[in-house]
Amino acid sequence: MIDYQIDDGLCVLRLDSPPVNAISLALLAELRAAVRRAGSDPQARAIVITGGPSHFSAGADLADFRATRTAADAQRMARTFQEAFAELEDCEKPVLAALAGKVLGGALELALACHQRIAAEGSQFGMPEVKLGINPGAGGTQRLPRLVGLPAALGLLLWGQSISAPSALKIGLVDRVCPGEALLDTARELLASSPLRRKTRERTDMIQDRPANSASLAQAESTVAASRPEIIAPRTILTAVRTGVEDSFDAGLAAERDGFCQCMATRATQNKFYVFEALRQAAKIDLPDATAEPTIARVAVIGMGTMGTGIVQALITAAIPVVAFDENPAALERGVAKIRASLAGRVAQGKLSDARAAEILDRLTLATDLRQMAGADLVIEAVFEDLAVKRSTLSLAEEICSAESIIASNTSTISLDRLAEGMRHPQRLLGLHFFNPAQHMPLVEVIHREATPPGLAAALLRFAKRIGKKPIPVKNREGFLVNRLLIPYLKEAFWLLEAGVEPEPIDRAMVQFGFAMGPFVLIDMAGLDILVLTDAVLRGAFPHHGGPPEIAVRLVQQGHLGQKTGSGVYRYEKGSHQPQPNPVAAGIIAEVRQGRRSFASPMSEGEITERLVLRMVNEAFSVLEEGLCQRPSDLDVAMVLGTGLADFRGGVVKYASDLGLEHVRARLTALSADCGPRYAPGKLLENPQSLIPNPFFPS
Ligand code: 3HC
Repeated sequence: MIDYQIDDGLCVLRLDSPPVNAISLALLAELRAAVRRAGSDPQARAIVITGGPSHFSAGADLADFRATRTAADAQRMARTFQEAFAELEDCEKPVLAALAGKVLGGALELALACHQRIAAEGSQFGMPEVKLGINPGAGGTQRLPRLVGLPAALGLLLWGQSISAPSALKIGLVDRVCPGEALLDTARELLASSPLRRKTRERTDMIQDRPANSASLAQAESTVAASRPEIIAPRTILTAVRTGVEDSFDAGLAAERDGFCQCMATRATQNKFYVFEALRQAAKIDLPDATAEPTIARVAVIGMGTMGTGIVQALITAAIPVVAFDENPAALERGVAKIRASLAGRVAQGKLSDARAAEILDRLTLATDLRQMAGADLVIEAVFEDLAVKRSTLSLAEEICSAESIIASNTSTISLDRLAEGMRHPQRLLGLHFFNPAQHMPLVEVIHREATPPGLAAALLRFAKRIGKKPIPVKNREGFLVNRLLIPYLKEAFWLLEAGVEPEPIDRAMVQFGFAMGPFVLIDMAGLDILVLTDAVLRGAFPHHGGPPEIAVRLVQQGHLGQKTGSGVYRYEKGSHQPQPNPVAAGIIAEVRQGRRSFASPMSEGEITERLVLRMVNEAFSVLEEGLCQRPSDLDVAMVLGTGLADFRGGVVKYASDLGLEHVRARLTALSADCGPRYAPGKLLENPQSLIPNPFFPS
């Protein structure tokens, strides 16, 4: 794990633990021993600690966190890191960190404890611990402010963003930047010209201005005060930093250790770790040998509506040449204008060069003649979510393309079996379900049927990875994964409206739960017509879901489709996305309530949350019972990536597991008595012990 080499007085210690040089406790112990050995090695005048070209290291090994079950375990872990880095800093010989690639978390803390730091161009530095819901535990909250000052340190610690090598040089995080191939020569040269032993913990120059420190901390505290209370890491970071600069380095280290333990004990942090792990599990898909698969080089997209346009942008950005077809030239123009505007926005933000934006657009061919798609290896159908429209599009695609090309539908709910009826080669039809906006959203459901040859499913899964998406394989069934849960949830929100609850408290409760927006704001954005259409598909397949949501149906009938018409459940001023109370919707709601003899009746946030979230939970358990995805955690990943549900909830299945499945079954039984069979718990909940998705910290 640590390669020890002496060359002309220089001892080079290279971290060698693929794939990302994660610092396990075992590696840390080896590093400590190697530094001691070099310290007493007469042939070594100075020490360089380095790693691989793409990863100096991704930080502490997250596998060790799995063994952290108690506060004492967490204390021990942080103390071990802190002591190892203190010993490194105290080494009698100059120690220089030669950094390349990713330098994250505990790895950056290791570098901070070295006496000097140099970086290869292209390296990236970050303290991502806060994203996992923890504060750094290896001295980062103490050494970083001493090296770069409070404003820069707080920026890195509180937001977990990475910075580039030039930025690191500018703030004083590294002493020099050089080409990657010159890293060791530069280290040698620097150690020869200035063999310094600067201990970061003894530096005070960057934190001596007390009023400035107080101002930085106060500003950070006011920002953090507005953040979610479930995630305590930003607060424990601030406590550790404040203690370190106002009291002492050692007191700061103790506060850092305490904060680390407090964070690890929270459900929110445990769930963030669960999602991190679940994401990586989801990426592990057993694929057959690639030689049996068709290659996908040329792609055609049919339909340049919202979804088609987003898909096209995602593909051309990922270097895939695309023919985009729409029979309506105006739709093509609108689509391409949207892509242009989006790329121009990225150029303006400095995220893309003009040349690269032009290169991306060059990959796009617009077509109003279907024959231009003839050479495509993959055709993605992204037309309106209507069985007849989709079927006729698919048969046109079959006529034009060769029998070998794959045809993928971006259906969001309709079963592939229904779409395949009437196709000449139905086995080549798969689902490739992108999420809106497709150019940004990472999730793609790759849907296969019983009859799908494994090679085709594998080709699409690999293709989705190639374009930078996170694919989840799903067996074909109406609604697939995310919409199977989301549509019943949205529909339930309308039933709460009918029952007398107002839209605002429903939306607030769900934002409080962890969604980026409430159900009505979401459906106003997506379009109420879409809800009515997709619910009809799900209702057909699962009659126990109940009838259509009458308020939504009436709003659609009267042309109130949401943001696109300026009026849905809420009203929108022209050009604004800000929801305002909508008297028209209020009138329709009142009429429907009157017909059902229900009256405005407030409900507590807890009751709203239970009603809406348990509706998703019950559907999730049906999905698992039907075996639609590989693992329960895949469904959690799909919900987090596909709907933006906050990772600190862990997803819908994990949330149910956290509530306790006995309790969930009891509440579902009670709700089914009150609300109907859509809440009746399924077979999987009969033996609740049987389904708890790998909890990270079983407490
Ligand atoms: N520990 C253990 N394994 C890790 C790891 C880590 N810190 N980081 C990545 N890995 C593993 C992944 O699980 C994956 O394993 P697999 O192949 O078996 O699935 C493999 O390394 C490759 O990872 P990715 O698929 O994510 O590769 P990418 O190239 O897409 O991304 C990365 C690389 C940017 C390093 C990304 O993996 C990442 O963000 N890792 C987490 C970094 C992090 O949060 N570090 C802080 C750790 S906490 C800490 O340091 C506490 C300290 O203060 C004490």
